[in-house]
Amino acid sequence: MAGHSHDDIDWADRLAQLRMADTLDAGALAPVARRLVGRLPERPVVVDVGCGAGGMSVLFARELARGGGGTVVLVDATPELLAEARRAVSGVAGETVEVVGLTGDLADPGLGGQVPAADLVWASGVVHHVGDQQAALRTLAGLLQPGGVLAIGEGGLEMRCLPWELGVGRPGLEQRLLAARGAWFARMRAGIRGSVAMPYGWPRALREAGLEDVESFGALIDHPMPGSDLLREYVVHRVGWLAGSVGEWLDDDDRAAIAALTDPDGPDFLGKRDDLSLFGAKAIHCGRLR
Ligand SMILES: C[S@@+](CC[C@H](N)C(=O)[O-])C[C@H]1O[C@@H](n2cnc3c(N)ncnc32)[C@H](O)[C@@H]1O
Repeated sequence: MAGHSHDDIDWADRLAQLRMADTLDAGALAPVARRLVGRLPERPVVVDVGCGAGGMSVLFARELARGGGGTVVLVDATPELLAEARRAVSGVAGETVEVVGLTGDLADPGLGGQVPAADLVWASGVVHHVGDQQAALRTLAGLLQPGGVLAIGEGGLEMRCLPWELGVGRPGLEQRLLAARGAWFARMRAGIRGSVAMPYGWPRALREAGLEDVESFGALIDHPMPGSDLLREYVVHRVGWLAGSVGEWLDDDDRAAIAALTDPDGPDFLGKRDDLSLFGAKAIHCGRLR
């Protein structure tokens, strides 16, 4: 099912937001890339499944280039994102790092036949878009060579960007947006064909996938106010995107407030504020194949 995800999301349409998030997350994720690559043998193969705009693989490629080089394999179901990731990673790879791009579907148990055996498999924000998440983890573990590490970015704390009172609409808008997002998420999961419940946490799921030495850690995304122009642009984008996906769970007052906050010509435009921030955390879970 190349070029197609299972969740009815137009991923190509998310490119601008993914690119901005990659830039804003890089400071928090660079130590994660260093920690994961630092444990690998010489000239390793790193596979990034659901690579999006390629932000994490840019960090992996930098780490590999600082060492003796290696290979970064980018895999995504969305050709537009894969092309962007290739462009971004090739820009930092240098001569010692080979960059390979493959269109592929994590829900395809045959994915391993298309991807070289990996020392590190990274999959962030993609497993929860596949119907059978446990099967997807088994597929990811199957990409590893013996001794290889699977690291997934799943869960953590949703980004907080907005003050409690905005002077527009009722206080607490962001909390209501995130609660609505929870309802959206449940419906998205239920709507994936072949969706299977996974009534346990990610560390246990990694063990069920046959991995050992399972551990979890967090990476804090912390951009305090007043923040950069990029932060303001990202927050405007994020609020509009959240509202677009969860509008049906919001009341008329909140919808009107969001319209005012995201109107670049209006007096309440978020992009003119100096009190926005970005605060959240990514959870990373990893395990090793014996
Ligand atoms: C939320 S984005 C995460 C991007 C990036 N890994 C990150 O953490 O920023 C999800 C990515 O997974 C890709 N994707 C969704 N379903 C997929 C599937 N079944 N197989 C492969 N990639 C998929 C999308 O195209 C998108 O690039």
